[in-house]
Amino acid sequence: MNILIVGSGGREHAIAWRCAEEGHKVYCTPGNPGIAQVAECIPLAAQTPFHFLELANLIDADLTIVGPEAPLVDGIVDHFELHGRRIFGPTSRAAQLEGSKAYSKNFMARHGIPTARFQVFDTLEEAQLALARFEYPVVLKADGLAAGKGVVIAKNKKDALDALEALFSGSLVGSAGSRVLIEDFWRGEEVSFIAICDHETALPLAPTQDHKAIFENDEGPNTGGMGAYCDDRILTPEQKAYVMEHIILKTLRGMADEGAPFRGFLYAGLMMTSEGPQVLEYNVRLGDPETQALLYRIESGFTETVFAATEGRLASAKLKLKPGATACVVMASYGYPGPVRNGDAIHGTEGTKNATVFQAGTRLQGETLQTAGGRVLGVTASGNNLRTALNNAYDAVNLIQFDGMQFRRDIGQKGLKRYTE
Ligand code: GLY
Repeated sequence: MNILIVGSGGREHAIAWRCAEEGHKVYCTPGNPGIAQVAECIPLAAQTPFHFLELANLIDADLTIVGPEAPLVDGIVDHFELHGRRIFGPTSRAAQLEGSKAYSKNFMARHGIPTARFQVFDTLEEAQLALARFEYPVVLKADGLAAGKGVVIAKNKKDALDALEALFSGSLVGSAGSRVLIEDFWRGEEVSFIAICDHETALPLAPTQDHKAIFENDEGPNTGGMGAYCDDRILTPEQKAYVMEHIILKTLRGMADEGAPFRGFLYAGLMMTSEGPQVLEYNVRLGDPETQALLYRIESGFTETVFAATEGRLASAKLKLKPGATACVVMASYGYPGPVRNGDAIHGTEGTKNATVFQAGTRLQGETLQTAGGRVLGVTASGNNLRTALNNAYDAVNLIQFDGMQFRRDIGQKGLKRYTE
């Protein structure tokens, strides 16, 4: 098949790598230097559904897979389907599950999907008054897409008032914060649960765990994700069955009932609480860096499964996962998650054994690979168990060097503590 991947990060590198491993001709827009090693990267004049379709027509794409959320919310799937070009992802309307937090929380409330108590506000004054009805810490969320920066956990009233001011004034996330949600805070461990969905059927992928804070022990500001691991044992079979029935399938049935059937990767960000799994948020795409760990576990059948889902044949798909575990350690540039410094030369990516280096924020300056963004590399490895996977990933990380690099040394530690191997 000719496969077009939309995006330019570590997630898209992992998708392109997997599709190439399965023998397909892969194109990517815009891509990055790492993706260019496994796919033909083609930049576009503008990132609109119209331009993406023109490219898909030009390369005669049999299948298009979209990495990030923005093109989905913008209607890339609607546009492709209107013109009869095969694509995997939700329509713009179904993508509101991620595009609007108010929509997704109201949807969960309508369908009895477990999630924290919440209220939605359109003015600063109403939100300020409503704080009295919540306990601290309290969660404040921008309604719109905010690239992971739209959630604040306020420890006390002063922090909450400051955050509300920053959200409504636009200084935190621009217009995404013109509507704000206040939610109860749940304690527990976060788990990413992603399923391949085709309107009625869902094929769950193995559970993964992301590490959102920049520093070890989950300290410091949130990032897009500093590392992830994939291990079946993150959830018990009972927990997995509960999530499938009470969250994933309930979501699909609810979306279909409301006239917005969902096809695509459905990502439920879960908090595992003393009262069972609660949905923190939906994403309507694969996670980053969860994808790097997840696709590294696949032995065969990824592209065939996605293709089958576009034809409503997901139930007959054969996706084979390798046993054991995988881990991805993200290496980020100086300054991340604040303003970053670009242009630091990256050394050592070629010499890594027993690991694959997925590239995200990189560029080529002549022959030199340089940093060009916040998250730079996702060093990914597998093993018979989580400890071996982590050792393989960190052995490779230790060979890589760039000025100002940041990475967490505790990826997977919660998993290691949970299991006796
Ligand atoms: N790693 C979190 C996300 O992809 O949204």
